[in-house]
Amino acid sequence: MAATIRPRREACNLGPIARIPLGEGRTFQIGGVSVAVFHTRQHKVFATQGACPHCAAPLADGIVGAGKVVCPFHGCRFDLATGEPVGSACRPLETYPVFLSETGDILLSEIHSLCGTVR
Ligand code: FES
Repeated sequence: MAATIRPRREACNLGPIARIPLGEGRTFQIGGVSVAVFHTRQHKVFATQGACPHCAAPLADGIVGAGKVVCPFHGCRFDLATGEPVGSACRPLETYPVFLSETGDILLSEIHSLCGTVR
């Protein structure tokens, strides 16, 4: 099931990837930061800012496919790996390094200092 397994010493554990069905995303609130985690049908995991830079739509509710997410409000597409918009003038997304542990937990490594307040 797991695609990229690269354990990190200091990472925020967001729980089992099995909670996110293939082809979907989920929003996590980490401190004051909204993060969208996506689980692609190719069993890859990506993390971006939670809200679309256009009008703050919840990106985790967008359609996921071909390594991209389509914003659920107005249809801007973003590359999940780079955050870059695809075919639109939207601003790029912030992306976060995310990995899976050996046991399939989602590990977010860049904003671990906020981990005490994951919701
Ligand atoms: S809110 Fe995402 S494209 Fe408009």
